[in-house]
Parts: sequence; C-alpha cells; structure tokens
Amino acid sequence: MTDQLTVIVLAAGGGTRMKSKTMKVLHRIGGRSMIGHVLDAVGRLEPTCVCAVVGHQREQVGPHVRELLPEAVLAVQEEQLGTGHAVRVALDALAEQQVAAVAGTVLVAYGDTPLLQGATLQWFAAQHEAAQAAVSILSGVVEKPVGYGRIVRDEEGEVVAIVEEKDANADQRAIREINSGILAFDAGFLTDAITRVGNDNAKGEYYLTDAVGLARDAGLTVAAFPVDDVWQTEGANDRVQLAALGRELNRRIVDRWMRDGVTVLDPETTWIEADVVLAEDVTILPGTQLLGTTVVAEDAVIGPDTTLEDCEVGAGARVVRTHGQLAVIGERATVGPFSYLRPNTVLGAGGKIGAFVETKNAEIGDGAKVPHLSYVGDAEIGEGTNIGAGTIFANYDGVEKHRTKVGKQARTASNNTFVAPVTIGDGAGTGAGTVVRRDVPPGALAVSAGQQRNLPGWAQSKRAGTPQADAAAAAGAGAAASEKPEPED
Ligand code: UD1
Ligand code: CA
Repeated sequence: MTDQLTVIVLAAGGGTRMKSKTMKVLHRIGGRSMIGHVLDAVGRLEPTCVCAVVGHQREQVGPHVRELLPEAVLAVQEEQLGTGHAVRVALDALAEQQVAAVAGTVLVAYGDTPLLQGATLQWFAAQHEAAQAAVSILSGVVEKPVGYGRIVRDEEGEVVAIVEEKDANADQRAIREINSGILAFDAGFLTDAITRVGNDNAKGEYYLTDAVGLARDAGLTVAAFPVDDVWQTEGANDRVQLAALGRELNRRIVDRWMRDGVTVLDPETTWIEADVVLAEDVTILPGTQLLGTTVVAEDAVIGPDTTLEDCEVGAGARVVRTHGQLAVIGERATVGPFSYLRPNTVLGAGGKIGAFVETKNAEIGDGAKVPHLSYVGDAEIGEGTNIGAGTIFANYDGVEKHRTKVGKQARTASNNTFVAPVTIGDGAGTGAGTVVRRDVPPGALAVSAGQQRNLPGWAQSKRAGTPQADAAAAAGAGAAASEKPEPED
C-alpha cells in the first residue's frame, strides 16, 4: 500500500424515502448508525485522513461524525449537485484544512452502506494500487441492476465507462455488472479530473463516474474489481431496506459468535449488536437481545427472552427472562425470571436477583439475595444478606432520593419497607411486615408491626350463613361469646 490514503465519505444526500426527521445515515442497525458502521470499516484502513461530506441536516450528521472520529475533516456541500460535485467540495475542504496536499490514493465511499467491511476496502485499495490505475471501481454482479450505474467494458474486457441508469440505452441496461459506488483514485489524477467533470446528462448532476471516461481519454488505466459479497455495498434508502440490512448484519454477527464458540439456540430470534463481546462457551437462549457494549464472560447462560443493554455478565452467571440496562452481574450470580435491572445495579458473585424484582443504583454484595417481588433502589446490601419477599426500599420521599444500607449476613423478613435514609447493621434481622424507619444496630431484630389480636367467633357472628361461617362451624369454632378479643399470650 502507498503510505498516503485519503477516504472521502459522501453523506450529504437527503434520504427522503426514509420519511424521517432523522437523517438517513444516522438511522441505526446493529447498535450503530449506518455511517458509524462505514467509519468503523474505513478506520481499519488506518487512513491518513478521512473527510465526510455533509449537507442535509448537517447539524445532526456533522457532530455525529465528529464524535465517532474527532480528527475527520467535515466538508459542507450546500447543494447536492451530484457525487462529482460532492468529491470536489471534499477536495476543496481538504486543501483548505490540511497542511499537506492530498496524495497517494483517494477512496470514495458512501455513508449508507452499513455492511461494508474494512477487509473489503483493504483488498480493494490493494488491487487498485497493484493495477496502478487512475480509477478503480468496486463493482458487483447483481440479479437486478436497476438504479445502478452499469460498468461498460469493451471486447478486451477493459472498462470504458460507467453509464447511469437514466443515461443508459437498452443494451447497457441489460449489463448486470454495476458500480457499487466505492471508487479508488490516484490522487493526482482525481484532483485534476474533478474540475473537468461536467453535468451534461439526464439528471443534470456532476457525476463522479465521469472520471472513468476522462481517465480513458488520457490513456490511463481504469480497473473494476467485482466484490462477491454484494450486501457490503448495499445502501438503505427506506425502512424496508434498513430492516433487511439489519437482519443480514445480525445474521453475520451471530454467525461470527457461533464460530467463536458461543452456543446460540435460535439464531433467528437472537439479536447481537456490533459492539457486544462474548466469551467462549456462552449460551444464548431464544428471544435474547444483547445490545450496546454488553460483555458476557464464559459459561454464562442468557435467556430466553432477555434484553441486556450495556451490561456486564460474569462467568457462569444465569440470566433468565430479564430486562437489564447498565447493570453488572457477578460471576455465578442468578437473575430472573422477570427481573428488571436498571442502571447502576451491581450484583456480586453468586448473588441472586429473583422473580419480579426491580433494582436501580443498587449494590448487592457477593452471595446476597433478593429472591422475590421487591424494589431495591439506592441501596447497598452486604455480602451474604437475604432480603425477604416483597421488600420495598422506599428511596424517594417525594422530593429527594435517599440511600439504604443493609450490612453483611443480615436476614430481613417478608413484606418489609425500608424508609431511606436508614441503615440495618451486620447480622441484624427484621420481623415480617416491619417498616424500618430508624437504624437497626448490628445483631438486633427490628419489629414494628403491632401485636396481633384474634376476635373469636367473628365469622359466625358477622358473616352468618356464608360459606365462610359454615367452614368455621365445621372446624369446630364456637359462636362469639362476646366481642372481646381472645387474651394475648
Ligand atoms: C451512484 C452512482 C452509481 C452507483 C450508485 C451506487 C454516480 C453518478 N452514480 O448513483 O453509478 O451505481 O451510486 O449506489 O456517482 N451524495 C452527496 N452529494 C451529492 C449527491 C450524492 O453527498 O450531491 C451522496 C448521497 O448522500 C449518497 C451517495 O452520494 O450517499 C450516492 O448518491 P445518489 O444520488 O444516491 O447516487 P445514485 O444515483 O444512487
Ligand atoms: Ca443511491
């Protein structure tokens, strides 16, 4: 490879068929924007410089590109006068903003081809350089060439021109080798040729593809290299295509993980985004979505029907029918079924978050358990502690949030409310139905429910003639002698 490589990414077009207030290249599949996928592929070439051409909704696209690639040069194309014009605008911006002149190879790609792979660009750039071509075309042979520029070759098979659909005659329209849109240029040739591209064609646009004819006229080499995997150069113009590309991207990601040692029971219903990282011997059960920057360690089993976004799952953990976001699940921990892990949940090794439990800003220690029907917000639970069924960490007083701290090896009973801010000491306990409003010292048992009273014969006197009273009578209950409660023990 030559040492100088400039990549121009075209992303100024409107993308009206998306029918969206979000610019086309910002629509997301696989956890990244379409242009994010392209920039990732481009980045693998380690180019000298990347220039993105923005126009439509550039106040959205520009900052997004900058965020992903801070060193990118942004070129503004006020009016979309064609791909040739876009590249000219890019070269002008590069000349203005760069210290060194553009040299070596210039690669042009589009911002809406999310399946594009770095390896393909690398291969293409290498082919272009080996051929010492002024212009190289990444072409593709497709079943339905409608809408694409056709690659016209002479009897020797040399590329003569790219003819756009609207300018093509019937013979040319029958050609199935198309221009993917990804082109490579000798920088010196392009800098000169781009000023000579005209707009005398059916669309009245400046066609970048006219550079092919200009190279031929100058006796320079033009080459076309067909790519087998045409998905990689396919753009999404509407949401139907976006979904099709999204499904194919997912299929590829899931396949890759299976080849890398992940068991996926049902690839069709498993969605794994591009930045997820999985270890060997992870098992994913049907209906599972692993999103964002989720990382899963070896031997963990996820699913069925689980969504984890930006989560970290430790080795050997088990996560069943769970929705989690920004949560850390320790090794060998168990979560679910029907658990809702909200941001900043941290579950320690061997810990448990069970059925119908919601957690948020909750640090649950190693081996600690919240097994059933609870809300744990703004809490710290020490190692080995067991929280009873139906416990509410009442963290919100209507104005502010407060924290609850439960120590190590505590045993709290069912149907408790911990009114924050409050601290329950190591080894402390609570009785069933306790409302903890004051700190519980280590080792103490907190009981707040009033003493129980039984009113004997109540069913027969107050519910006479009902099945309840009949059942009581059959069990030998006498009628109420008086309304006086039975004495306490
Ligand atoms: C272009 C190619 C065609 C190729 C096809 C592949 C030309 C003349 N034609 O046609 O040979 O088969 O792509 O998809 O190059 N853009 C700008 N500024 C502009 C015009 C376009 O940034 O002024 C961007 C668009 O946002 C888009 C890309 O360039 O990402 C392609 O533009 P589009 O108008 O869709 O070109 P096609 O007619 O599809
Ligand atoms: Ca197009």
